Amino acid sequence: MPAEFFETLSNNAIPPIYRFFNGKDWVESTSGNRIAIQSPVDGSVVGEIQVVTPSEIDEALTRNVDAQKKWEATPLNVRVKIVHLAADWVMHYLDYLAVLLAREVGKTISEAKSEIKRTAELTDYFADEVQSIRGETLDSDNFPGYDKGRIAVIERVAHGVVLAIAPFNYPVNLAGSKIAPALLMGNSVVFKPPTQGCISGLHLTRIFQKAGVPEGVISCLTGGGQEIGSYLVSHPKVTMVAFTGSSDTGMAIARIAPMKPLLFECGGNNATIVFPDADMNLTATEIIKGGFSYAGQRCTAIKYVMGTQGVLDQLLPVVLKEMEETTNLAGPVITVQVAENIEKIIKDSVAQGAKVAVGGHRKDAYIEPTILTHVTPSMNIVSTEVFGPVISFIAVGDMDEAANIVNGQRFGLQACVFTKDEGTGLKYAKLLDVGTVQINGSPQRGPDHFPFLGVKQSGVGVQGVRYSLEAMSRIKPVVINKPQ
Ligand code: G3P
Repeated sequence: MPAEFFETLSNNAIPPIYRFFNGKDWVESTSGNRIAIQSPVDGSVVGEIQVVTPSEIDEALTRNVDAQKKWEATPLNVRVKIVHLAADWVMHYLDYLAVLLAREVGKTISEAKSEIKRTAELTDYFADEVQSIRGETLDSDNFPGYDKGRIAVIERVAHGVVLAIAPFNYPVNLAGSKIAPALLMGNSVVFKPPTQGCISGLHLTRIFQKAGVPEGVISCLTGGGQEIGSYLVSHPKVTMVAFTGSSDTGMAIARIAPMKPLLFECGGNNATIVFPDADMNLTATEIIKGGFSYAGQRCTAIKYVMGTQGVLDQLLPVVLKEMEETTNLAGPVITVQVAENIEKIIKDSVAQGAKVAVGGHRKDAYIEPTILTHVTPSMNIVSTEVFGPVISFIAVGDMDEAANIVNGQRFGLQACVFTKDEGTGLKYAKLLDVGTVQINGSPQRGPDHFPFLGVKQSGVGVQGVRYSLEAMSRIKPVVINKPQ
């Protein structure tokens, strides 16, 4: 029964008051400060979360440090079993977690179920893949001037305590994508869930605890990023930071976490470039999926579409027709305030000459799926990451101009190119200074064993199953000297 499994997380108040996990117990904070988590769906309070104090952070991190070496010394096959069991329980509680997630962050039930299922599958994949992560040995005489007098035995070892910071748009999946590899590589984990999505994050923590992660190895500290983020990130007991969120927050973290290994996925304003020979029906379908799923609140969401005016004149009616035929295109954005900000950016763009081809209106936290035309690259709707269901059409003279617009952005997560000639797509992809280029498909992180990275202000390091496992560890060479 889910209620029994998760009973220690909260008290029986209505709405529930959730506790945080200090690595040993589920407790209320002595701060007395709590944040009410409101559902973007209807404004109802899902529950209240604690704002922890610096001394509670110190206590949890001390536990993380004290438990880490013993955890790293635990046989890998034991760590693997625990993580597989956690994946099983994520699947077992799929419906319960999906309903909670949908209510907490405004995903549709199918989007929420997809995130929970994907988390279980990803967690299992990590636990399988880790068993093939190897160290290596190197002989000295490969290098000129050396004889066989040395051998390097190179192991992969844990960083120590990994701070995992997840975003509101995937509070379960992008928590599991950090927690699972960190644990499997022998680290302790201090998990900071997003404020909106925190309750779902607490449930995931409970699952790892019940799966057998020993006392002290995982903790879950709650509170707004403003209140506890800086203290956590700069804490001397935090060895490595794994973060998904905005580019501005990523840069702020990097400034106060000097010399710490970082694994960041940050913002994106992902472009679609449409060649004249593109399959317009496929392109329209991918643009709608890429721009409007989860109300455009994805780092990999399509934000602008470029092509010659003739191509856009051909493409737009196909997109509009498909939008008309599609129901439930987008749910609410995360808060009413965010929706108001998006509404303002749309209005500012129109004042600067953009035209609304469809949508453009707001009700509460809901923004109609919107397409703007006659947009220029300098408009905020393009140059900033507008985390909402808005796609801009930009007419260009040629594809080189489109590439220059992409490369002139501060972001560099993904881009997608539509052309029937994949050779052209491959050649053109080399021009784009982004993490990943999709040919004839919209930007996305999955499948999750593919490398996933951002360049410029879109990220640091590479994620994806094997890449994340390696990022959650470091090499430890030991050189044996054998005088010949
Ligand atoms: O916004 C988070 C980013 O990881 C997007 O993931 O799977 O929606 O492409 P996805």
